[in-house]
Amino acid sequence: MDRIRIFDTTLRDGEQTPGISFTPEQKLEIAQQLDRLGVDTIEAGFPSASSGEQQAFREIVNAGLKAEICALTRTLKSDIDIALKCDAPCIHTFISTSEVQMKHALGMTPEEVLDAAVQSVEYIKDHGVVCEFSPMDATRTEMGFLKRICKAAEDAGADRINIPDTVGIMSPQGMERLIRELKTIVETPLSVHCHNDFGLAVANSLAGVAGGASQVHVAVNGLGERAGNAALEEVVMGLHLIYGKKTRVNTRLIYATSKLVSRLTGVIIQPNKAIVGENAFSHESGIHTRGVTVEPLTFEPFSPEVVGRRRRLQAGKLAGRHGIKAELEEAGLYPTESQLKEIVRRVKELGDKGKTVTDADLLAIARTVIGEVIEERIVELTDFAVTTGIRVIPTASVKIIIDGKEYIAAETGVGPVDAAIKAIQKITDGLANVRLTEYRLEALTGGSDAVAEVIIKVEDNEGNVVSARGAREDIVMASVEAMINGINKLLLRKRKR
Ligand code: KIV
Ligand code: ZN
Repeated sequence: MDRIRIFDTTLRDGEQTPGISFTPEQKLEIAQQLDRLGVDTIEAGFPSASSGEQQAFREIVNAGLKAEICALTRTLKSDIDIALKCDAPCIHTFISTSEVQMKHALGMTPEEVLDAAVQSVEYIKDHGVVCEFSPMDATRTEMGFLKRICKAAEDAGADRINIPDTVGIMSPQGMERLIRELKTIVETPLSVHCHNDFGLAVANSLAGVAGGASQVHVAVNGLGERAGNAALEEVVMGLHLIYGKKTRVNTRLIYATSKLVSRLTGVIIQPNKAIVGENAFSHESGIHTRGVTVEPLTFEPFSPEVVGRRRRLQAGKLAGRHGIKAELEEAGLYPTESQLKEIVRRVKELGDKGKTVTDADLLAIARTVIGEVIEERIVELTDFAVTTGIRVIPTASVKIIIDGKEYIAAETGVGPVDAAIKAIQKITDGLANVRLTEYRLEALTGGSDAVAEVIIKVEDNEGNVVSARGAREDIVMASVEAMINGINKLLLRKRKR
């Protein structure tokens, strides 16, 4: 009883997610990954729905997977015959049992429903196939009738009885009570299938297990009709680490499986999604980053490696020296104390402007700060402005202090970067006669608010060449920073000689 069966319905209920439709090749790829993951049953489709669905189902049955492959059918002989023709080793047959669905979706009386359920289960068992029976909308079904139909399915030979919370209206307490109650009527293993309409699918599934269910229906990333099904990753980790239950799932493959399903469905995982969301193992605040670098358990419920992930320390306005240092060291960058101070200052400045500082942004800032240790700054930028537009000639004005004296210049150019660099050169020409020989721009994260890293080479009239960097969230500012850094390097070199 401590081992809970995981019945995965990503390829069936998951495919009922609005906007999702798998090709047979995609279904096979996901089934193979679910098999590696270690789920017990893969509900591979609803074969009577289309010929493509039958082809995909057959391919999965013939793929030599360890998991039980299950077909969904209505309690109709025609549906069951198609599933049998596809060599289904397991058939999950369902019929509505709530008053509202029997009356308005089926147009059948309870006695007709009971009869169809019994005949279908018997027919499936006569063919020597594993049979799982679902009284659809069980949680809104009149209790007396639910007990009767579950008992009838058991007597007809059902191997498992699944209790669907079809429209997700159960509470965890209600689900636990319901399963306990049904267990007084049937001995057949019980399963739960919970929808997430109130965000309770995972809680209800775990409560079903607490009540005595030995199987849970889940879908990767919580895909499924409307708000989806219980998420495989959350149910499995909750079972293992909160409820002390075992499953056959190799949790280290959870993240890779989630990524694969997200890629093939095009459904992006919300960043704050438990277990598989981008932020699930990311730490930003200084207190947390310091804590996890000293002892991960301070701010993590379990190690990210358990689900095939890695911890991320995120730079931002709440970040601390400790976390940023650890993140940089992981990337092979070892700033001095004063460099680290400047990196943290710049990161917080960006954070205060409301910007998310990505890993790439942090590295760009760090490379600039570490690479531009200019002991003495001969040239210092004190003010700067640009204007540009469709009918405006790009113009830049700069104010620079050289050896304590202030200079102002304005220039036009083909664009704001060109204008700014020319304005700087106009002032520094007499001092260094600097020429820009190479200019490279890297917008690191692809977003319009990415930190731009500008890498330049400048040469003076004596043929001295230096390279310099600038990293700012504004391309013109990054270019100006790189140019000022380059001029300072050249002038310092000259003075030393
Ligand atoms: O949600 C549901 O009731 C179902 C059934 C087919 C089991 O998906
Ligand atoms: Zn469902």
